[in-house]
Amino acid sequence: MQQQRKAAWPLVLASALACALAACGGGGGGGGGSATTTPPVTTTPTPPATGGGTTTPPASTTYDAGVTRLAALAAFPMGVAVGGGNEDRSLPKTPEQQTIVKKHFSQITPGNIMKMSYLHPAADTYDYTQADELVNYAAANGIAVHAHTLIWHSDYQVPTFMKNFSGDKAAWLAMLDDHVTHIASHYAGKVASWDVVNEAMADGGGGYRNSLFYQHTGADFVEHAFRAARAADPKALLYYNDYNIEWDMTKLQAVTDMVDGFKTRGVPIDGVGFQMHINMDFPSVGTISAAMKKVVDRGLKVKISELDIPINNPNSAAYKSGDIKTTYTLDLGLQQKKRYCEVVKAYMDTVPASQRGGIVVWGVDDPSSWLIQAAFNNKHADWPLLFDGQYHDKPALRGVADALTGQACTAN
Ligand code: G3I
Repeated sequence: MQQQRKAAWPLVLASALACALAACGGGGGGGGGSATTTPPVTTTPTPPATGGGTTTPPASTTYDAGVTRLAALAAFPMGVAVGGGNEDRSLPKTPEQQTIVKKHFSQITPGNIMKMSYLHPAADTYDYTQADELVNYAAANGIAVHAHTLIWHSDYQVPTFMKNFSGDKAAWLAMLDDHVTHIASHYAGKVASWDVVNEAMADGGGGYRNSLFYQHTGADFVEHAFRAARAADPKALLYYNDYNIEWDMTKLQAVTDMVDGFKTRGVPIDGVGFQMHINMDFPSVGTISAAMKKVVDRGLKVKISELDIPINNPNSAAYKSGDIKTTYTLDLGLQQKKRYCEVVKAYMDTVPASQRGGIVVWGVDDPSSWLIQAAFNNKHADWPLLFDGQYHDKPALRGVADALTGQACTAN
């Protein structure tokens, strides 16, 4: 039986917090290129040290995952979230990230800079400078873009003019339609897919979140956004994206109810993004599979849209009692490799090839993960991603490759 944990993390990122919190529930509880499938090789007999938070680069793990190109192992987009513009460790400012992205990934998701306030800071102002830089970089390097996100309630990035907007329901819908139309038109033909609406459902079920947009339009803003996005960019795949729906079946029910309504009313939607900010021990792969199957059964694509798996679980009994992993060891990395493998294997086993929208890891290198701040308040490091702070392979990379190539999931 799943356990749902209450919020306890210190950071204030509303949805991020809720997301990460619930994901901690268990607590104690096609690109081209060639690739190899050789097993991982460790070049040092002692556990590598990878310390540091966001300021001190961790030491190399010296782990070689033996993967020539991850994306070549998948017949679907293999993506990674990247920073842009002036963000710390943004892709344009970090050549080491560029090397990894070009080598291993066939798709990028801008982690922040395509959000509402970045692209549409004032009623009559659209600013595409930072996003265009990333989109152009991707195009120049044969990398697709999964764009994120046209509508998101999260207070941090709702433009001030929207917070101050006054008008009746029709005026709100027209304003949001205009927002979607402008941005989706600008990127028509340049992005492969959109998270059209992000996190519109309430935690714990019950339907739609009582967001600013919901308060003014009811659920209609969601449907409007999908229709406007399809009209502006008929070729882009359109996703609904949310967190915890890989285990919170009541929340997932709200999503599938929405999808069923869309089908009845002819609202365009191509897939559902399962963010998958999960933990080492929660949720079970059986739970993840059961959740994904509900979307598969509706004929939609399933995208793992924001995957990360931290070593520490701040809501676990162990963590709360002081058992905090502040040093990365090879043994921890190998456990994480097994977990990554099992999760990707569940995706491969559950989602038919034609419905695989792809897998996106939420960040390139460990120190760039949002979790260091959001989950751990910069008090200690964590290692949720596929590459370490020295931009070297981690065992987790091998774990993903093993799942993609049908190998057994092991911690060695
Ligand atoms: O750019 C400013 C910088 O100038 C300033 O010095 C610094 C001070 O804290 O803040 C910087 O902005 C931060 C921004 O990321 C860019 O790095 C914000 O504080 C920070 O809140 C923001 O966090 C992002 C978060 O969404 C909120 O938008 C994370 O990087 C991003 O990974 C996270 O991504 C979300 C997805 O969009 C939706 N699903 C959940 C996921 C994780 O929360």
